[in-house]
Amino acid sequence: MNIIVETDRLIIREFEKDDVLSLYKIESDPRIIEFIPWNKLRTLNECKRQIKKIMNGYKRYKLNSWAVVEKETNQVIGITQLVYSNKIKGIEIGTKILPEYWSKGYASELSEAVVHYGLYELGIDEITAVTDINNAGAIKSLINMGMKLKKYGYYKGTKSAFYSLGSRGHRQRT
Ligand SMILES: CC(C)(COP(=O)(O)OP(=O)(O)OC[C@H]1O[C@@H](n2cnc3c(N)ncnc32)[C@H](O)[C@@H]1OP(=O)(O)O)[C@@H](O)C(=O)NCCC(=O)NCCS
Repeated sequence: MNIIVETDRLIIREFEKDDVLSLYKIESDPRIIEFIPWNKLRTLNECKRQIKKIMNGYKRYKLNSWAVVEKETNQVIGITQLVYSNKIKGIEIGTKILPEYWSKGYASELSEAVVHYGLYELGIDEITAVTDINNAGAIKSLINMGMKLKKYGYYKGTKSAFYSLGSRGHRQRT
């Protein structure tokens, strides 16, 4: 198991072949894709191909997607990623958590750790999160972890809020 970062309650680790059903459960849930309708992983086969692609990427790239595991149950409860986005010309963080685990502070907790990993382990200058302006859970979790609103604008046709955090404005975790 290749761990990227760990928090009090969560492990962020590389995806493994056996995670395909967990990925499918996350990606096919209509409550998860409500604010990200361009999400393209709708079938089990698409998820199988995606896991293969992600795992191949671990050998070559530092930026990728990772599984979010709840320590207490050892279940994969979400996915998080740091990726280069052509649309924002920078590094973007994205997170999806299974609805039965919402409102436990998990997204706030893991985003802080993943952003810290990006800023200080990978040396990224600034990390951005883009969210639909109506996505209250996402906006709250970004504010909770210290991101600042940069602007409003359109992203993939959706009125969105752009939040960001740079290494200069961020307090290092101890
Ligand atoms: C956005 C998302 C990752 C937040 O996950 P989470 O683990 O519930 O986030 P947190 O528990 O850290 O929540 C932060 C806050 O938002 C609140 N919240 C969570 N879901 C909410 C919702 N659907 N509506 C309103 N508030 C919500 C929480 O109660 C919490 O409030 P608090 O700070 O007052 O305690 C999760 O809702 C999700 O996976 N959504 C679908 C995918 C998605 O939209 N991803 C973001 C794309 S930018």
